[in-house]
Amino acid sequence: MSESMNGLKRTKRCALFGSSDEGQKVTLMGWVQKKRNLGSLIFIDLRDVSGIIQVVFDENSTEKEVFEKANGLHSEYVIAVEGTIKKREGEVNKVLKTGEIEVEGKSLRILSESKTPPFPIERDIDTREELRLKYRYLDLRRPDIRDNIILKSRVMQLVRNFLTNEGFLEIETPMLTKSTPEGARDYLVPSRVHPGSFYALPQSPQLFKQLLMCSGYDRYMQIVRCFRDEDLRADRQPEFTQIDMELSFVDEEDVMDINERLLKYVWKEALGVDIKIPFKRIPYNEAMERYGSDKPDTRFGMELRDVSDTVRNTGFSVFTSAIDDGGSVRGINVKGQGGMGRKKIDKLTEYVRGIGAKGLAYIQLTAEGEIKSSFKKFLKDDEMADLIKAMDGENGDLLLFISDKNKMVFDILGSLRVKLGEDLGLIDEDEFDFLWVTDFPVFEWSEEEERYKAMHHPFTSPKDEDIDRLESDKGSVKAKAYDVVLNGVELGGGSVRIHRADVQESMLEALGFTMESAHEQFGFLLDAFSYGVPPHAGLAYGLDRMIMLMGKAKSIRDTIAFPKVKDASDLMSNAPSEVDEKQLKELWLTINNDGKAD
Ligand code: AMO
Ligand code: AMP
Repeated sequence: MSESMNGLKRTKRCALFGSSDEGQKVTLMGWVQKKRNLGSLIFIDLRDVSGIIQVVFDENSTEKEVFEKANGLHSEYVIAVEGTIKKREGEVNKVLKTGEIEVEGKSLRILSESKTPPFPIERDIDTREELRLKYRYLDLRRPDIRDNIILKSRVMQLVRNFLTNEGFLEIETPMLTKSTPEGARDYLVPSRVHPGSFYALPQSPQLFKQLLMCSGYDRYMQIVRCFRDEDLRADRQPEFTQIDMELSFVDEEDVMDINERLLKYVWKEALGVDIKIPFKRIPYNEAMERYGSDKPDTRFGMELRDVSDTVRNTGFSVFTSAIDDGGSVRGINVKGQGGMGRKKIDKLTEYVRGIGAKGLAYIQLTAEGEIKSSFKKFLKDDEMADLIKAMDGENGDLLLFISDKNKMVFDILGSLRVKLGEDLGLIDEDEFDFLWVTDFPVFEWSEEEERYKAMHHPFTSPKDEDIDRLESDKGSVKAKAYDVVLNGVELGGGSVRIHRADVQESMLEALGFTMESAHEQFGFLLDAFSYGVPPHAGLAYGLDRMIMLMGKAKSIRDTIAFPKVKDASDLMSNAPSEVDEKQLKELWLTINNDGKAD
């Protein structure tokens, strides 16, 4: 049976009371976390979004009817309690903010009853994520998710504060747009009014923010939803939020400076953590060579070594054929793991095969100085000794090698390095390790499409000294682009933009656009560039990723109130869902139901 509030007013949230409030008469409202009945005393842990406070009903001092009602409470009932704050009689609870006090309950209203929830409303439960997401409104009551949601709200407020003080204007850009070439697949929205035409949901406000610069709004920011139909991972969602910004009359240094100060402010205000600025900077090529990744986790060593020259003339064809094919052989030295058992090495081999490796060559240097290796028979003793030396191998070390095309070697060893760093506990989980990756290539060769694509997006400016090589030597052209990396995750990225119409046109040409197709897709931007365009640059963060790292969440899903799962569906509302024939008809759509996408 539910009662109404009947004029009761909540004093304030449960966990906002402390010992200075002793003696105060209060009205509290919230959910029953737990009830304990000790005979003449009933303890209720009362919870709201701020936390928990203990309420006690004493048989000897409360009305019988109230005591009985308290006795009938169950978890997740919503109640209103009137009572008095007093010092805890039992032991102080150090875990709770309100641990020194309790509320002596005098009256009780049951505002609503609850079924037994399908999982406990507690921190760190091991319930399947599918079940948690089906009942997301209950999952959101759990403190670990709640903390992330509150942190996100706080961070959004801090970002707005900081950037507004720096002169930024928050300007909205449309959600129903024309497709921007950000690289992922678009989510399309059919037009009712224009048969056969579609809007695209924005992958980012890239073109609009550049147009705002053309319009003179020289510092723009927006906390904005973006949509990308790409394969999902632990740090990717189909709709996610960017902290997006663009500035006029600036260069790379200005953007980096303001962003370092922004991050320092946010970390200090939200977490009380001092981060050191300026951040380290690592050029893209160096990041790849040393860490096999353009988002290196530099909290630990185990850097990659190129040993191609050392093994080039050996008789081990796995190595030599990769080098002959234009690839390389690189290794990592896993210090102190020379005694790793065969089973564990097989597991590592299985892991690298899972991410595309053809195998994993290893040398185990036992503590006693013995050499065990999967390719010992192919190398002469002095060749083996040279290779160990090139890897700075010492007794007790495990040396792991991959030979393949460079991109594969980097991807595989880069991932293996991070996996070993995690598995072997080499990473200080409390560290926030920020860095800039700079000097990205403008173009990236796509094996799949057999053409050069823009690594960032087609509006990123090449370095001035590289512009004349846009056609002749694409692979060597570097961009005025920068990524902010935190603990091995790409937190944000941006670039100085091309602001000259002629350079923008050469860039589009270099990417394989005809002038006709370029004008069809973003003629409005090219046109805008002919009416006075300021030099401009910008950057965007993934807000959800930022919260994941700040809140030490395992997945980006734990930072989004209503996230989607791997197949981009929402397990609670069951979106996406079929729509009725009438809606399809209005949108001029028919569904091809043969189960094939093409
Ligand atoms: P970019 O594509 O690098 O740049 O995106 C910026 C940041 O957004 C986050 N992000 C994502 N977060 C969650 N789920 C996703 N699917 C996802 N995709 C990207 C990342 C990334 O660093 N317009 C440019 C920015 C600019 O040049 O100013 C852009 O969107 O943290
Ligand atoms: P094999 O001669 O095929 O038995 O290979 C000898 C060793 O080389 C085994 O440990 C394989 O796992 C490893 N191996 C095979 N291909 C590669 C590769 N591309 N990179 C590194 N190691 C490899």
